[in-house]
Amino acid sequence: MAAHDPIGLFDSGVGGLSIMKEVRRLLPQEDLIYVADSKFCPYGEKTPAAIRDRARKITAFLITQGVKLIVVACNTASVAALKELRAEFSLPFVGVEPAVKQAALMTKKRKIGVLATGLTLAGERFTFLVENFGNGVTVVNQACPGLVEAVEAGAVNTPETERLLKKYLQPLQEKEVDVVVLGCTHYPFLRPLVEKLVAPGVRVIDTGVPVAKQTKRVLAEEKLLAPSQRAGQEWFYTSGDPAVVGPVIERLWGGRGAGVAALPPLYSA
Ligand code: DGL
Repeated sequence: MAAHDPIGLFDSGVGGLSIMKEVRRLLPQEDLIYVADSKFCPYGEKTPAAIRDRARKITAFLITQGVKLIVVACNTASVAALKELRAEFSLPFVGVEPAVKQAALMTKKRKIGVLATGLTLAGERFTFLVENFGNGVTVVNQACPGLVEAVEAGAVNTPETERLLKKYLQPLQEKEVDVVVLGCTHYPFLRPLVEKLVAPGVRVIDTGVPVAKQTKRVLAEEKLLAPSQRAGQEWFYTSGDPAVVGPVIERLWGGRGAGVAALPPLYSA
């Protein structure tokens, strides 16, 4: 592995782009390779074993592309597969988890809400986070079926998505939480809608910035940071149909890095 090698990132679909945006902002010199596992999206409805299988295959693909570090840009895949990936592969991994600790420090009413997939909320890691970093605050968990699919379809600001979100935010509002954690990497794309729907003064947080900082820290420790005088590039792959996924990636990424390639069949089955 060398400093000029790319960073790999993957998610069940386009959600991990919310993490990649922060990585790009903090590390403009790095080359980034993103895999959207759209054919297998949503992960939230798969078994942990099926998610581990996908995570292993995507990791193997990213290794063929010469990556020096992998960001598992998905809370659900981090819960289901991060431990096994670290045990099986020798390159460094950075995972994503709901910002329970930060929210517990921020709340004034000692009540926080967490929006995530059912699998993330049911995972051992989430229980550990609440027990060890929850600071004794009330945590209102809310699984949100349908939101990932809405973002995958590019429906980030439609009446139907707003209706769904309203339903999921209602229990949080009833409990009067004052911090809402976006515990799925797809949800930051719905942040404008979430902010519109929550009561004034409620803060909405995600993990993009901390994950980007952790990526930088790990690369620095491993002496793998790319030289800062260069401009990084991006490459995108999907296990789904590039003609369908491409326009959504282009829209959510902000127009750059238009070409989305199909993941080779060996890694998309
Ligand atoms: N972006 C994934 C996460 O952070 C979505 C999971 C899914 O595909 O259900 O959990």
